[in-house]
Amino acid sequence: MKELLHEMHAWMNGYMRSYHTDDAEVMRGIRLKEIHTGYVTANARALARHLGCGLHDTALAEIIGLFHDVGRFRQYAVYRTFNDAQSEDHAELGLKVLDGLDFMDRLSAADADLVRFAVKYHNKKEIAATDDRRRLFFAKLIRDADKLDIYRVLLPFLTPEGADKAPNFVPSDAAQEVSPDFIADFAAGRQADYYRLRTHGDRRIVRLMWIYDINFVWTLRRIRDRGYIDAFIESLPAQAGIAAGVARLRAYVARRCGEEDQAELYG
Ligand SMILES: [Fe+2]
Repeated sequence: MKELLHEMHAWMNGYMRSYHTDDAEVMRGIRLKEIHTGYVTANARALARHLGCGLHDTALAEIIGLFHDVGRFRQYAVYRTFNDAQSEDHAELGLKVLDGLDFMDRLSAADADLVRFAVKYHNKKEIAATDDRRRLFFAKLIRDADKLDIYRVLLPFLTPEGADKAPNFVPSDAAQEVSPDFIADFAAGRQADYYRLRTHGDRRIVRLMWIYDINFVWTLRRIRDRGYIDAFIESLPAQAGIAAGVARLRAYVARRCGEEDQAELYG
């Protein structure tokens, strides 16, 4: 597994480099995803260790981190956007890329299935219902590792000036206000529908609502301690209904951060 992991890292580095271009605008998007891939791989590994994974499962978590966004590069090269609604689902695109790789066959059938399942569901609104606790575990792990880093990525784009520079999630001239349906979802603590977002404010609400979808206390404490939650809350416009959502969210974070993670697979 160690040798294979090494080869996978080398392949991924070469694959990402193959998308390098002289176009500075495209290069900005590609660089963003290269750096993101590095951090998510490290997050997945660290979280796996924290949850008591042995060498094999820690390596699996690392592989999933490494490949979770492999579809982003083709997506950006073809469509010039990271917006799945305006292009195609980048996780599905990633599975197509993985299907063409010989070394996926060198994983056991069970491990290859885990990688595919986790990549497929890393970005969906929810993980598909499954009785397989290993599938569920690795899907939960990658979703946390990914979100922790996405908060880092988005931090510079929270100001009105920064929002215009965000790579194509919403039109740069979109309003800062939050749409009424998103305010209602936020106040009720309900996940908002990513595909319906129209404004910069909506996008911030969707990201804040991810807090309810964080699976492990390890991740939530890091998101809180790095100031991501405060920064997102401060970036919201003063609109009726927002305060109720913020109060609910803060109470949830305080309660959840007081709990401890259980080693789900190994306890
Ligand atoms: Fe992704």
